[in-house]
Amino acid sequence: MGVNQLMAEIAGVGKDAKRGGYSRHVYDYADFELRDWFIDQALDTGLDVHTDRNGNIWAWWGSPGAGAVVTGSHLDSVPGGGAYDGPLGVASALAAVEILQGKGFEPARPLAVLVFAEEEGGRFGVPCLGSRLLTGAIDPDRARALRDADGVTLAEAAVKAGHDPKRFGADPESLARIGCFVELHVEQGRGLIETDSPIATGSSIIAHGRYRFSFSGQGNHAGATRLTDRHDPMLPAAAMIAAARRSAAAMPDARATVGRLVPTPGGTNVIASSVDLWLDARVAGTGRTAALVEDITAAALAAAEAEGCALTVTEESYSDDVVFDETLRGRMDKVLGGVPALPTGAGHDAGILAAHVPSGMLYVRNPTGISHAPDEFAEPADIDSGAAGLARVLEELAG
Ligand code: GLV
Ligand code: MN
Ligand code: MN
Repeated sequence: MGVNQLMAEIAGVGKDAKRGGYSRHVYDYADFELRDWFIDQALDTGLDVHTDRNGNIWAWWGSPGAGAVVTGSHLDSVPGGGAYDGPLGVASALAAVEILQGKGFEPARPLAVLVFAEEEGGRFGVPCLGSRLLTGAIDPDRARALRDADGVTLAEAAVKAGHDPKRFGADPESLARIGCFVELHVEQGRGLIETDSPIATGSSIIAHGRYRFSFSGQGNHAGATRLTDRHDPMLPAAAMIAAARRSAAAMPDARATVGRLVPTPGGTNVIASSVDLWLDARVAGTGRTAALVEDITAAALAAAEAEGCALTVTEESYSDDVVFDETLRGRMDKVLGGVPALPTGAGHDAGILAAHVPSGMLYVRNPTGISHAPDEFAEPADIDSGAAGLARVLEELAG
């Protein structure tokens, strides 16, 4: 089945009528459906399917073994996300295997399609849980205890999905099988819009972190409380959001975003007793994200003090800069006939794996330049070029 047909098969799964786009979160109903769909497709393609101790799904062409060429991506989305971020890499991996089978290619090295259990952190806050657990980049106790917005822990959600969370944790045996990893992904910026190339390789990922800012004050009546008597945590929260933009604008190529804010109790006529918000901060260069967050934290603290509120800041995740393997990138570029190489501000499981095995990215042009939103897009012809390019790359690497 071609990659566009595969994408069409899952176009109805996890649609979010309220937010628009898709909400597909690890171990929720849409995720079950997508995982089942993937397993069926992989079996139909003649692959042997196995789920590892961290819930990542492996589909092997030939016997599992060391030095494997592995390709894949994730099936989960951000809340109200686009159709392509993640699933395009999974569908393209399956399609690329079919292209190679169709031309009678016989891999000289084991080849696998890998679906990471979780990439966006959309439900439990920490991104790339599948690859972080696999590589030991997150402590399994910490992962098991992560809670979603309803208070459900990752461990509880995993049990409900039929996994044993006691087995979560570093998986050196699976990791040792990966000779190299290539992730195809929809481009998440405007990098290919002005070019005549539908695809690109990835050169690097900028460092990024997520931080929870918890402001606490005094819950009270919106009408009966004089302004001078208030300790309203929404004020320092607002000041912090403005400071995030100001501090990022003062640092070359820095990005700072507050995309989620939760007041407690959250009533129109209630002064909040506390406000939690999450800062997503990204700056290339080791230590520079920390410097940006320090700057924002200083402004937030000053605003909290001025309102008689308290502030705690918790780092929820951090990933340092990634530079993708030069040799792998060179081999990819050679078979693709010379394509642009793009740096990105978006995080990927390939970035987590890059600390352990040669890893690379292949991007498919996105004519809207929009991602993590319903307007994310890729033209069907470009999608076909992506799968064909991935097939050439796999042929080169596994031949
Ligand atoms: C994932 O796509 C991220 O960059 O947050
Ligand atoms: Mn994403
Ligand atoms: Mn992604």
